[in-house]
Amino acid sequence: MKKVLVTGGAGFIGSHTSVELYNAGYLPVLLDNFANSDKRVLKGIEAITGHTPICHEGDCTDYTFVDRIFREEGPFEGVIHFAAYKAVNESVHHPLKYYHNNLQSTEVLLTAMKKHGCSRLVFSSSCTVYGQPASLPVTEETPFQRANSPYGFTKQVCERMISDVASASVTGLQAVLLRYFNPIGAHPSGHIGELPLGKPENLVPYITQTAAGLRDEVVIFGNDYDTPDGTCVRDYIHVVDLAEAHVAALRYLEHPSRNCEALNLGTGEGNSVSEVVKSFIEETGAHLPYRFGERRPGDVEQIWASAAKAADLLKWHTKRDLREALRDAWNWQQKIS
Ligand code: WQD
Repeated sequence: MKKVLVTGGAGFIGSHTSVELYNAGYLPVLLDNFANSDKRVLKGIEAITGHTPICHEGDCTDYTFVDRIFREEGPFEGVIHFAAYKAVNESVHHPLKYYHNNLQSTEVLLTAMKKHGCSRLVFSSSCTVYGQPASLPVTEETPFQRANSPYGFTKQVCERMISDVASASVTGLQAVLLRYFNPIGAHPSGHIGELPLGKPENLVPYITQTAAGLRDEVVIFGNDYDTPDGTCVRDYIHVVDLAEAHVAALRYLEHPSRNCEALNLGTGEGNSVSEVVKSFIEETGAHLPYRFGERRPGDVEQIWASAAKAADLLKWHTKRDLREALRDAWNWQQKIS
């Protein structure tokens, strides 16, 4: 089996992608420092795939550690780089934590890949690189605005770092920059899902924890935006759809002519926070106390994707809708509560 290095492989998207890598006949080698993930995930991956994941605990900002993994576990067919902090709100209050972790891990990885002759990189980027887009839906040609948060800015910088290295022909790097919109849901088996440590930053895990009685109520951050119902609009994509896109991206890089492409990964539809809350209640019948509160710093008012380029280049499209993702998220929450 062809080995693929998966940094942040025990995380929410990394674990779901590791499952899809096994399903596609690859052998994922996971790196994770478990700063924002839990070792229970490894058992979940095994329960789904029958494989005991290869996982090395360590920090991707540590060149000595990453270099050793390339030496001991390589050669790798490619690398999927998830390891990063990703909470928009948290990054506003702790920017240096984000600049150090997200930028240094990418620089370390690119250096190690060059040294060990590994040329294919799938990078976990984000729709936050666009800031508040001037027009919607967002295409890959939509110009970057000033990122609304340090998190979004780290993704803009990492994309530029990677595209510059791919352009410097000496490295031979080929890369796909996957700009996720809002990943939600869980594997339908209920063996893996989102495991935020402590109080969730993101909407859907906060909803499921509230419905499970772990939180008192959902606060909807602002209902005075210039949107149809006054609450923010996002493009919520099922995490398994997202995981499948990573395998398709790896396959795409097998063609030597490919250099560096940015691709939006979204459903192409926008849903407001209120719509997500109401859809969750309708789909699950769960009791979900909620109220409207103040806006949250760093929030973009509305954003959703055009995913036409990913459909064209990767022959990939989403198969699961918002309600299925909410059902799978609730199924997962009930198993871990
Ligand atoms: C969504 C909406 C909140 C919590 C995420 C990821 C980021 C990136 C983009 C991948 C916002 C509102 C939230 C709550 C609320 N994805 N909300 N009450 O900020 O869009 O960013 O997607 O890279 O990594 O974090 O997602 O789920 O935090 O917020 O009203 O308790 O829900 O204001 O409008 P966000 P989110």
